[in-house]
Amino acid sequence: MKTRILVTGGTGYIGSHTVVELQNNGYEVIIVDNLSNSSANVVDNIEKVSGIRPHFEKLDCCDLSGMDAMFTKYKGIKAVIHFAASKAVGESVQKPLMYYRNNIVSLINILDLMPKHGVDGIVFSSSCTVYGQPSKENLPVTESAPLQPAESPYGNTKQINEEIIQDTVKSGSPITSILLRYFNPIGAHPSALIGELPNGVPMNLVPFITQTAMGIRKELSIFGDDYNTPDGSCIRDYINVVDLAKAHVVAIDRILKQKQLEKVEFFNLGTGKGLSVLELVKTFEEVTGVKVNHKIVGRRAGDIEQVWANPDKANNVLGWKAECTTEETLESAWNWQKKLRELGIQ
Ligand code: NAD
Ligand code: WQD
Repeated sequence: MKTRILVTGGTGYIGSHTVVELQNNGYEVIIVDNLSNSSANVVDNIEKVSGIRPHFEKLDCCDLSGMDAMFTKYKGIKAVIHFAASKAVGESVQKPLMYYRNNIVSLINILDLMPKHGVDGIVFSSSCTVYGQPSKENLPVTESAPLQPAESPYGNTKQINEEIIQDTVKSGSPITSILLRYFNPIGAHPSALIGELPNGVPMNLVPFITQTAMGIRKELSIFGDDYNTPDGSCIRDYINVVDLAKAHVVAIDRILKQKQLEKVEFFNLGTGKGLSVLELVKTFEEVTGVKVNHKIVGRRAGDIEQVWANPDKANNVLGWKAECTTEETLESAWNWQKKLRELGIQ
């Protein structure tokens, strides 16, 4: 019998890619998603990619009794990957209570129900946002770099959730956990059957680039060229979403094989390479042969100047490494955008 894994937020961007990788590695997946930022047809597309249809429950993780019933229905779930969360930084500033409720209550419910249903482990989606702007000597950033006060309610939910997991484990709950701090996930599955579906005007760089290249947006605004970086634009660590998804399979294997050295482990998931906004745009143009109209505008409030990962711990301890090149990743993002056009979606 296959090992059952619950994936909350499994029809979302990173979740859908992870479900495919879990299935490719022999796991049976149950997706719980309330479809607040994704659609049910993602389940069909996951099936097209992997040849296996995951179980799907349209359910809100904040619904404690609904989640309880779900664990009872799918007996024997061994571990959870908890992606479900609201993730728009700007919106979280406008609607902090909505963010605190959704992101924190969801996790509390899951942690509450895990021991009752004999679920051993949880992999949690955290973010490099917890590091804020690391000092120069802390770049590239390691897991032991000091955390900075969050810039937004969204970022704060990640810090609070990390603390909730640590406190729960400390209290003696029979849970093990791996907290994955993602840097900037980009790109789409090479099949172009699953990818990121931004809601409205994209806030993130790569969807804005691909939509501009497609002619949906007139022009990309580059937020600042006066930073203290080689070309003046901000630097990030852009990580391919399939590479990122694969790290979750490794994390699940590690939990189930009880290889963890500690009951709460943290890993940075990044490439170890910092790329500027201008470099990313240039690479996109070179790879696709499509021009991206852009102009330099003022800085975006709250932006970090530069951050990229030191992924040594994930490389050495998890045995996971980002493999895709930036070129391949940007090509996959462009193929996904073209697919959306073909389907008349965007
Ligand atoms: P996404 O919005 O595409 O996926 C999240 C999914 O969770 C969506 O399908 C949404 O419908 C669902 N969801 C939200 N609240 C829910 C709830 N209460 N109950 C059930 N389902 C719910 O986002 P993503 O980019 O795939 O991000 C996945 C996780 O990774 C999130 O926790 C996010 O904060 C984290 N993360 C994302 C990034 C990024 O840049 N994309 C970076 C760091 C961390
Ligand atoms: C990348 C770079 C922008 C759009 C956000 C969240 C973070 C994490 C990942 C979840 C920055 C520049 C962007 C545009 C631009 N999410 N940019 N023009 O800000 O690194 O991180 O997503 O945890 O919490 O804050 O990602 O893609 O928005 O921006 O010049 O139209 O692109 O200034 O330097 P960011 P991003």
